[in-house]
Amino acid sequence: MTNPQQLLHDLEWQIAAGADEVIGDVPGLMNWSDRKNSATLPQTKTTPVGITLPPVSATVTRMEPKPAVSAPVTAQTIDALKEELKNFDGCALRHTAMNLVFADGNPESDIMFVGEAPGEDEDRQGKPFVGVSGQLLDKMLAPVGLDRSNIYISNILFWRPPGNRSPTDAEIASCLPFCERHIALVRPKVLVLLGGVAAKSLLRTKEGITRMRGRWTEYQPPLGSDLTAPIPCLPIYHPAYLLRQPAAKRQAWNDILLLIKKVNETNHLKTQE
Ligand code: URA
Repeated sequence: MTNPQQLLHDLEWQIAAGADEVIGDVPGLMNWSDRKNSATLPQTKTTPVGITLPPVSATVTRMEPKPAVSAPVTAQTIDALKEELKNFDGCALRHTAMNLVFADGNPESDIMFVGEAPGEDEDRQGKPFVGVSGQLLDKMLAPVGLDRSNIYISNILFWRPPGNRSPTDAEIASCLPFCERHIALVRPKVLVLLGGVAAKSLLRTKEGITRMRGRWTEYQPPLGSDLTAPIPCLPIYHPAYLLRQPAAKRQAWNDILLLIKKVNETNHLKTQE
């Protein structure tokens, strides 16, 4: 039981599953059902097998997330932006994630995809959309000749939320200026937003993805951006949603056809050698 490798493995498992606060010095003492006040623990407890344990600290130590920091993002190149993110401490997710997940694909591409947040495989490999939903996306793009050599792909969030939970508004707000700077540096001719979180955050709307998908709209750069014109933008279903709702794949395919029609009309396809 005191094998350090095993303990480390168990701890990593708990963090990956979403445990993000320490509630006591000894495991298994908390009876959540008789907790009157979330800041106070019972002084003594009896274990399920009837052994009375010594008093534990009455104060719960909560690791409060730092308030979102709205960063002045100044990077002038994509590499500099990645460096800036490596040093950014305004998003608590970086402390539970294994890796920064920045981007994949061809940064010279005219077609940029933006998703929500890395999952477990992305966190492990430090690359976006390499897990099952990324594989589905690749399968959807291949028939129209799109792949990582001729598209560029990133996320709103650059670190995995523990246990793949939905990102909080504060986490989105802290990463959004980096995502918007990313778009301004890539200068895509076409932006594809994968799922509701990306679409709502970048289009600054509360409208759901079901209503937004499959209709071209415009991404308006924020005030002070280097971008001087809006970018044609297509919200589509997130591939993770399609894995849960395969019946929606037909609509998603229609959306990919809309995308490739626009790409062919405007000749926006550059392939990396
Ligand atoms: N889902 C996302 O939104 N982004 C990834 O990188 C992986 C899964």
